[in-house]
Amino acid sequence: MNKIMSNETNFNFQFETFSRDELSTEDTQLIVHAEAACDTAYAPYSQFTVGAALLLANGEVVIGSNQENAAYPSGMCAERVALFNAASNHSKVKIKKIAITARKSDAAQYIDVTPCGSCRQVMLEYEELQDDNIEVLFAVNGSWAKLTNTAVLLPFSFDKTSLK
Ligand code: THU
Repeated sequence: MNKIMSNETNFNFQFETFSRDELSTEDTQLIVHAEAACDTAYAPYSQFTVGAALLLANGEVVIGSNQENAAYPSGMCAERVALFNAASNHSKVKIKKIAITARKSDAAQYIDVTPCGSCRQVMLEYEELQDDNIEVLFAVNGSWAKLTNTAVLLPFSFDKTSLK
């Protein structure tokens, strides 16, 4: 675990980016699953389809896509659809990594996306719960950002320790 929390909290972090060719087969296959998940998005209001794919420690892949609603806040992001699916259906299995992809409904090419704050919060909760890092892959400037854990995405975060 690599949670950023100390007397001095640094909100900067370095991350490596890779071209698709430079990624492992495991990573590229997970990205392909995330891209395919975009096809299952229901995004008539934003026209922004997001796909997420989780690789579990047992090799299974769990996907999620954003699901919107006429009552806008009732919708749900792709990442949380995938994470809640894994937590519900594979509760004892650790999550190794998550790949996140996006494209506009009317376009073929995939575009940059970073997980929203609520999804970072949820990713962090499961990372802490399983006491093991969850790697994160998403596109930045057309390259793939590969983060070793989700905690770096949410420094100085709120978590269950505050509730004690
Ligand atoms: N969205 C996600 O699914 N994941 C993110 O991390 C960012 C935003 C969705 C929510 C909404 O359906 C659409 O993208 C536009 O915000």
